[in-house]
Amino acid sequence: MYQKFYSAFLKNHSHLQHYAAHSHHFWPDVTKQAVLEYWDLASVCSDRKWSTIFTEKVPEVQKRIAARLSLHKPENICFAPNTHDLIIRLLSSLDFKKNKIRILTTDSEFHSFKRQISILQHHKMIELKIIPTKPYHNLSERIITELEKGQYDLLFASHVFFNSGIVLENIEEIAHTAEEQNTLFALDGYHSFMAIPIDLDHIQNKVFFIAGSYKYAQAGEGCCFMTVPEQADLRNPIISGWFADFENLDSPDQTIFYSQNGYRFAGSTMDYSALYKLNAVLKLFDEHHISEIEIHGYVQKLQKNFLQELEKINHPELNEKKLICHDLSYHGHFYAFDFKDIHLCRKMVEHLENNNIITDSRGSILRFGFGLYQNEKINLSEI
Ligand SMILES: Cc1ncc(COP(=O)(O)O)c(C=O)c1O
Repeated sequence: MYQKFYSAFLKNHSHLQHYAAHSHHFWPDVTKQAVLEYWDLASVCSDRKWSTIFTEKVPEVQKRIAARLSLHKPENICFAPNTHDLIIRLLSSLDFKKNKIRILTTDSEFHSFKRQISILQHHKMIELKIIPTKPYHNLSERIITELEKGQYDLLFASHVFFNSGIVLENIEEIAHTAEEQNTLFALDGYHSFMAIPIDLDHIQNKVFFIAGSYKYAQAGEGCCFMTVPEQADLRNPIISGWFADFENLDSPDQTIFYSQNGYRFAGSTMDYSALYKLNAVLKLFDEHHISEIEIHGYVQKLQKNFLQELEKINHPELNEKKLICHDLSYHGHFYAFDFKDIHLCRKMVEHLENNNIITDSRGSILRFGFGLYQNEKINLSEI
């Protein structure tokens, strides 16, 4: 049904069953044309290409992303090559001159954030409170209770956790509580954007939603984005690139200005061919009216089918007993199997690869990911 969009990747992987959509999603064929379009633009316009990029393409992609997230102001989305860039600038908007910055987070954040705040903590620049994600059933309540203590400058949490596929529930309530307590709220949506349906309408001015093109947006590395709440009293980042204020670049005075929209969190020059690829995928999906409800529904079918096949083979190591789950009707697009032992887990990933099944692992967790380029013809019989 959707396989027709991915003919090149499917042809080149025809000997493999690729279950790593949660990592390197296959790219639709239209992304190739997008790279060529970018090349052609450069060859025709050279330096003058920037006006097409900034006046046409960036707004187009902002609009397409905003529509998928139910945001009213597309211009409040800014871009960067990776989420780490965006996180650094977000952290730099905290008031480090006051006593100590206090950050609330979970034990299951991706390395881009985890490593950075561990370093800041090591240098005693922040205080950190880490909430365990387990037990999953009351995670959001525990986050809210902690927020209500009123001690935090920033809450950083994933929307779908990279090491379990569990979805953080009640994000609206979390966002409201964070706002009441003057806590900035950053939601790492890399595993939720274009996977599960997302509606930020009611909290668009209470959350920094961060995601990117590499995973479910299917456009490869190089184009991440952050939605920026519109609040007059928000601090500006002190780590700031010149893209954050195009208007006053040539101003003779020394005053530092920031753009009034999401671009105040921008950095500087990046390779916009990644944005062209992202636009091509979004356009394809928009033109075919493929919504996240549809994507999620299709992936859920694949996941159900996979579990049935898994049950059939009755494997001693890879089986449902190891599956991390809370509510499988509202779960991310990969299944995570906890082997409790890194070596065992790596051995299983290798074993699967030797049998032409591509998965990946994070520590002792083996991840099986699902995407639109797959169909229900899963074959686990050889393992
Ligand atoms: C939850 C999450 N956030 C962010 C990233 C990527 O971060 P960056 O763009 O900084 O490489 C990943 C990558 O796998 C991820 O799983």
